[in-house]
Amino acid sequence: MPRIVFVQPDGSSQEIDALAGDSVMSTATSNLVPGIIGDCGGGLSCATCHVYVAKDWIDVVGRREGDEDEMLEMTSEESNECSRLSCQILVDASVDGLVLNVPASQE
Ligand code: FES
Repeated sequence: MPRIVFVQPDGSSQEIDALAGDSVMSTATSNLVPGIIGDCGGGLSCATCHVYVAKDWIDVVGRREGDEDEMLEMTSEESNECSRLSCQILVDASVDGLVLNVPASQE
């Protein structure tokens, strides 16, 4: 089972067992990870599932593009080259150990 690490702005972290096939956003919300809201349920229309992918992982999960790139212009906390919308990252074996930094605010 892939494990995903969510790091909060204060440095605290949670390691979550994720189910392959789920999105990272639904993994976070179903495990009550603070700071991942997912208002639109993964419809790519809210940007409240913004995360900063750890630099070591960005080439594994891939970079923002297309509609996701446009939505990342509307985040509460400024996005950067490692920003992704977590509803657009699917869990599979390749993301075992993935480290994601949660923004200080989503709204
Ligand atoms: S949950 Fe709304 S854009 Fe990701």
